[in-house]
Amino acid sequence: MDRTAVAAAFAALETHRVEIASHRVIDLFAADPSRFANFSVKLDDLVYDYSKNRLTKATLGHLLDLARAARLEERRSALFDGEKVNATENRPALHMALRNFSGRPILVDGADVMPAVLAERKKVAAFADAVRGGTICGARGDIFTDIVNIGIGGSDLGPAMAARALSPFGKPDLKPHFVSNVDGADIADVLAGLDPATTLFIVSSKTFTTQETMTNAASARAWVAAALGEEAVGDHFAAVSTRLNKVAEFGVKSDRVFGFWDWVGGRYSMWSAIGLSLTIAIGPQNFEEFLRGGYDVDEHFQRTPLSHNIPVLMALIGVWHRNIWGYAAQAVIPYDQRLARFPAYLQQLDMESNGKSVMRDGAPTPRATGGIVFGEPGTNSQHAFFQLLHQGTEIAPVDFLVAAQPTDADDHHHTLLFANCLAQSEAFLRGRPEKEVREILQAQGLSSAQVDELAPHKVFSGDRPSSTFLYRALTPRTLGRIVALYEHKVFVQSVIWDINPFDQWGVELGKELCNRLVPLVADPKADVSGLDGSTAGLIAARNALLGA
Ligand code: F6P
Repeated sequence: MDRTAVAAAFAALETHRVEIASHRVIDLFAADPSRFANFSVKLDDLVYDYSKNRLTKATLGHLLDLARAARLEERRSALFDGEKVNATENRPALHMALRNFSGRPILVDGADVMPAVLAERKKVAAFADAVRGGTICGARGDIFTDIVNIGIGGSDLGPAMAARALSPFGKPDLKPHFVSNVDGADIADVLAGLDPATTLFIVSSKTFTTQETMTNAASARAWVAAALGEEAVGDHFAAVSTRLNKVAEFGVKSDRVFGFWDWVGGRYSMWSAIGLSLTIAIGPQNFEEFLRGGYDVDEHFQRTPLSHNIPVLMALIGVWHRNIWGYAAQAVIPYDQRLARFPAYLQQLDMESNGKSVMRDGAPTPRATGGIVFGEPGTNSQHAFFQLLHQGTEIAPVDFLVAAQPTDADDHHHTLLFANCLAQSEAFLRGRPEKEVREILQAQGLSSAQVDELAPHKVFSGDRPSSTFLYRALTPRTLGRIVALYEHKVFVQSVIWDINPFDQWGVELGKELCNRLVPLVADPKADVSGLDGSTAGLIAARNALLGA
């Protein structure tokens, strides 16, 4: 990347901000009747409307200059060509190979990975079909009715999010469940409703060393063994990992072990065999549709000019908000209850990828990187934190996601849902100026003293940014598209900020300290004098509460 050119592009954006600051977005709509057409893009049935953000063609011009200065196209090629873009872990990031339907080879260290990818996908599909069809069953011959995925982070969030999103595509007599937290309440609550004889566990872990997953897997194993006997365990477990030797140590039957590769990052792994629980839930054909959705976006990302390239636009608008306007948070609000876990999934994708303070060469970043991602489905979030979004002192741009039609719900509900979604983005855009508030209060018959008192509380500044993703229905293909759009958005932002989005060293320190603390927490007599005062004090206070 040309850092001088990038700095110049950022400086041009700062200057442009001053020029555009006095323009209200609602006035930009009045000035340009084609604003919606000019500032929205389609990818098949998916519409990305970014017209409600404060930007003009000139803004986009500056942002595209920034992308070029950061050599986005070169870096995109490096990503797809399998270069070791994850330099701190010395590996490529090639999750796109898992959804490559082009027939073209994808090379890692000169070798085509596609034959192995396709073979593993076939193996996953065959296993999923056999579980769904009842030819693979429990130790006592019972058909599986419940699948429990044990994993955390990327080995949980993607499949859990997608299984919920695509539940209408599931099998009514086969339920997916997800256990992730080391808090024993998580597994206890899931197992409470299940019968060991009809339950299949999938231990999903890229490394097969993660504390939470290994602890939960051991508890699940003990639960099966206690109910059905030790010899039944093999029939009730499958595993997904890159570390096949570690899986063998755990005792999973070799034909129930599914692999993937270290060039698939954890948070990008739902496209791999980590999607086994999802594949069993929705069936291999629907899972393939999901993969095809991801592939649609890979093609779009690689082949569409930057000015009409959805993930590029998403990323650049995010940079405009983050770096030029200083907005530290991004809300993601699906008006789609089945996308309830999408914000949590996105938190890992975005915050674990771009929550970095040093650039690829180790130098400190000169500007802010990834922001805080949060969200909850609408309409529930309207009755929780939208007050702050409308009238608070912080501005958080919002991404709305909404389907044109419900997958299998009542049309009247969907009309209300859709209208709510549009009403919120309209309110963010339009606001309600004081003059209008006063007129309304006067029309309601309030005295002028009452109007003076109430009016300031009822003013909405408006001019708050939002984008909307509209799609026909939440199908597997649509979900694949949505996920891949955000993946590439995160990548593009990492290019602009010149950071490595594929490592996650920031999660290591806590893991290490936890391992050191476990014996000190477990043993009330342990010497905690080497710890800081607060940590030692809290251990002592806990011991006191336990009477230890
Ligand atoms: O917490 C960090 C992390 O390494 C994530 O990146 C990853 O998705 C998660 O832990 C789970 O790791 P594993 O799949 O190896 O159990």
